[in-house]
Amino acid sequence: MAGSNDALPVRKGFLLWLNNRLPVDAFMRDQLTGYYAPKNFNFWYFFGVLSLVALVLQLVTGIFLTMHYKVGEATAFDSVEYIMREVPYGWLLRYAHSTGASAFFIVVYLHMFRAFLYGSYKAPRELLWLFGMAVYMALMAEAFMGYVLPWGNMSYWGAQVIVNLFGTIPVIGPGLVDWIRGDYGIADATLNRFFSLHVVAVPLVLLLLVALHLVALRHNGSNNPDGVEIKANKGPDGKPVDGIPFHPYYTVKDTVGLGVFLMLFAVVLFFVPTFGGLFLEAPNFEPAQPLKTPPHIAPVWYFTPFYAILRAVPDQQMGALLMALSLIGFFLLPWLDRSPVKSTRYRPLTWKIALTVFTISFVALGYLGLKPAEGSYVLAARIFTGLYFAFFVLMPFYTRGESTSRVPARVTFHHD
Ligand code: HEM
Repeated sequence: MAGSNDALPVRKGFLLWLNNRLPVDAFMRDQLTGYYAPKNFNFWYFFGVLSLVALVLQLVTGIFLTMHYKVGEATAFDSVEYIMREVPYGWLLRYAHSTGASAFFIVVYLHMFRAFLYGSYKAPRELLWLFGMAVYMALMAEAFMGYVLPWGNMSYWGAQVIVNLFGTIPVIGPGLVDWIRGDYGIADATLNRFFSLHVVAVPLVLLLLVALHLVALRHNGSNNPDGVEIKANKGPDGKPVDGIPFHPYYTVKDTVGLGVFLMLFAVVLFFVPTFGGLFLEAPNFEPAQPLKTPPHIAPVWYFTPFYAILRAVPDQQMGALLMALSLIGFFLLPWLDRSPVKSTRYRPLTWKIALTVFTISFVALGYLGLKPAEGSYVLAARIFTGLYFAFFVLMPFYTRGESTSRVPARVTFHHD
């Protein structure tokens, strides 16, 4: 482990007693002061630690919300209103949790985009990427079930649409839908199980997956904007010449990122908590009404790229299949990308164009997923769905034998 040969500080008294029982100093040395990270981390490297912050924020606000929330068809909506109006600072808790969910996805999407920019999913970090994708899946399940809990009208109809998607699976589909709901419709039993999964099961899975993600990260060390493996170039002291100790250098740098994040978060939280209906949709301020469908059923923004793909095809079964396939591309990325070079900085124009077109398609699909599936919106969704899939399906061809520029032996400090 990095720095494990360094001497530990000499301790006396309580700290000696403590270190004889718990390896606090050894942990600090191995994971923080003696862990060498590349010295050229830029803006994009803030989002891992910000994802951790968002996770903690959701856990803490979630625990306090659970103290006042009352699960059940007859009580859920009113208990959320009670939290908003009567519980001291309940509005703050609720809005911090709902804004926190969107903030979580914003930082996670930026975190994932960084991996595309610098080829961080490539060997030897494939498993780190796969754990990341598992986190992303668990996060989507967590957010979906959380959204159902206030039992507003969009909670009800959103659950209806998403759970029904499982009905498109041949043979077992219809039975599976009944099994998920625990009833013949979205009902009290559904709400109860979603509550239990949202507050206990999925957070545990998330924590476990994040821990595995971080262990895999530390095993090979971080990639960096140049895609240079810093461990390949060590000085006489055995430390990577292009590395600096994580603590204090990156703990201090990350504090700056955290400060900016918290300021932006506070602006949204205190001034525009629903973000114009994007973070919390208007129909969810009405109780669930099985006989009144909201004018446009749309999920929260972070699901809309996939929702647009689902609706781009007239046949529901094909749409659901396409939506599932659209996620598989991400999982296969380390094997679809055949380029010998990691960082976009040293990759040819073909890759840069492909990545730009993909990014535009993803954002455009996100926008289209918020719009009704009619007229030119459908046509646009079809075009962008085509481009989205082309990025993954054609990748082995346009990345093989890429004419890359020379990757420097040492990390550099230019900006991109
Ligand atoms: C709860 C969610 C997550 C947390 C807390 C988390 C945490 C972290 C942290 C702290 C780092 C190191 C700092 C950094 O590189 O920014 C990291 C690196 C990384 N993460 Fe995540 N992550 C999460 C989700 C994801 C997801 C969804 C993916 C992709 C599917 C992903 C892929 C990666 C990759 C590839 C790296 C290495 C990047 C590099 O070294 O260039 N992570 N993660």
